[in-house]
Amino acid sequence: MRNTVEIFEVGPRDGLQNEKAQIATSDKIALVDTLSSAGFKRIEVASFVSPKWVPQMADSADVLAGINRADRVSYAALTPNMRGLEGAILAKADEVAVFASASEGFSKANVNATIEESITRFVPIMEAAPMPVRGYVSCVADCPFDGPTDPADVARVVEKLFAMGCYEVSLGDTIGQAEPEQIDAMLNAVLEVCDARKLAGHFHDTSGRALQNIDVALLHGVRVFDAAVGGLGGCPYAPGAAGNVATEAVLAHVEDAGYATGLDAKIIARAGQMAQAMRG
Ligand code: HMG
Ligand code: MG
Repeated sequence: MRNTVEIFEVGPRDGLQNEKAQIATSDKIALVDTLSSAGFKRIEVASFVSPKWVPQMADSADVLAGINRADRVSYAALTPNMRGLEGAILAKADEVAVFASASEGFSKANVNATIEESITRFVPIMEAAPMPVRGYVSCVADCPFDGPTDPADVARVVEKLFAMGCYEVSLGDTIGQAEPEQIDAMLNAVLEVCDARKLAGHFHDTSGRALQNIDVALLHGVRVFDAAVGGLGGCPYAPGAAGNVATEAVLAHVEDAGYATGLDAKIIARAGQMAQAMRG
């Protein structure tokens, strides 16, 4: 049997959240419905955050209500606090994600809280969530406010998220500037506190090194990578950050390297065209 890599499609959330012009809910639903037939196991489609902070995601409940749910696909949503979890439960998200930062500057900018305060908000979420909870750690290599991140700071947050009960932690190069050496050093620290099979790589592609960083993570045993169809997105609270690495690029790259993904490249290409058309 060939080795496998899972691509976690995050375009409908991480991709679209950064679009300035409001995208029609029906267009978001059509995009998710197309992606649902491509073979993904998990698609992040919603974000129950404050609509004042991220207006683009204000229709998350309508997106979850409107999509045709495919069997075997888990539809995921971000939840920064209990209010978010309540929204995700009502909208029947299959899994949720809490998100923390390894750097204080980004934590304050993104969720108006220190790292510790944000993690404290996750405690009731972990206790109440009836569904699996994933964890994110942002700024695992660099912070747009604080500069380079100490790998030990990443490991500390990862350890806390696992101790709380996250089933997987996704490591975000939020501003997409990481050098492969930084990812290597960060993973060396993180792998002191957890197994590579419980990690995911979440690399934005601002500097065009995301695929190199994926290669480094593969060498460390990581087999799940977040990606956004069409390379959409960025984070509205990370100045200068470009989109996630494109799903199409990761798919071609890992399949060339001999990994099976179970994904249909033609459907993903169609979804990529839809995503680009939505941006106008
Ligand atoms: P705050 O202003 O400190 O908190 O925001 P608050 O409790 O004072 O709430 C402010 C307002 O938002 C209130 O409304 C609340 O009711 C409302 P008002 O009284 O002013 O009318 N509110 C909510 N509304 C809907 N859903 C909620 C919710 N919570 C409060 N869940 C807060 C704190 C965390 C809410 C805010 O900072 C926020 O929503 N931040 C989210 C920012 C965000 O979504 N960033 C992008 C996602 S993270 C990312 O992209 C990185 C990632 O991709 C990984 C990587 O790349 O590194 C995951
Ligand atoms: Mg991101």
